[in-house]
Amino acid sequence: MEIDIQFVPSPPSPGILSNRAVVVIDVLRATSVMVHALSQGALEIIPVATVEEAFQTAKSFAPGTALLGGERESKRIPGFDLGNSPREYVSGKVNGKRLILTTTNGTKAFHLVSSGEEIIVGSFLNIRATAQRCFGLDRDLLLFPSGDKGNFSLEDTVCGGMLIDLILGKGRKPIVLTDASRAAHILYEQFKANLVEALRLSNHGKDLIDLGLGDDLPYCSQTDITSLVPIYKEGVIRAH
Ligand code: MLT
Repeated sequence: MEIDIQFVPSPPSPGILSNRAVVVIDVLRATSVMVHALSQGALEIIPVATVEEAFQTAKSFAPGTALLGGERESKRIPGFDLGNSPREYVSGKVNGKRLILTTTNGTKAFHLVSSGEEIIVGSFLNIRATAQRCFGLDRDLLLFPSGDKGNFSLEDTVCGGMLIDLILGKGRKPIVLTDASRAAHILYEQFKANLVEALRLSNHGKDLIDLGLGDDLPYCSQTDITSLVPIYKEGVIRAH
């Protein structure tokens, strides 16, 4: 079993995805929102690329059954029900609802890797369960941080490094790391005693603090608040 990580969210080269499971990671904040919303009883999540597509998709469902969520420039989109803070996605709002989500980086990442064998939604919030799922699959893995507007993102890479650490900790199977995944693991070692520090130092973390959304950083750096492992399949994310 080989674990690779792609440091920037460009389309993976053809062939890479055909025999790999992929873990999409957007700690701040799209995959944290997805994991949290499903843990609070949301029915399913449809990630779409544009605001226009979100409004169009909502029209295909009975009134009152779907909620629009997401952000542009980290702020709630006019006409949407919810923004992109996991703290908004509580059972009182999302239980039994279908969510249509569009975000700057995270939802796009799913479309870039949609031909992967299995596409898993990873975050700190469900990291141990995600590691267990990856280990059980027993196939090569591509970790796919969704980055920051096409660039490397510190917090997603540290989360990928923690996932690698947990998978290695399970022992028993030979695990091959690439140079990239070894580097992510080393980076995680640097922050493991204080995960939130990686989020605070990151570009996107600083932007969120400046916008008054700093409380999302400790929230998104919590580990294992749920054992759900959401899977993206045929355009929809559901809990497993
Ligand atoms: C994204 O997908 O780009 C992020 O979740 C942005 C944000 O923090 O709102």
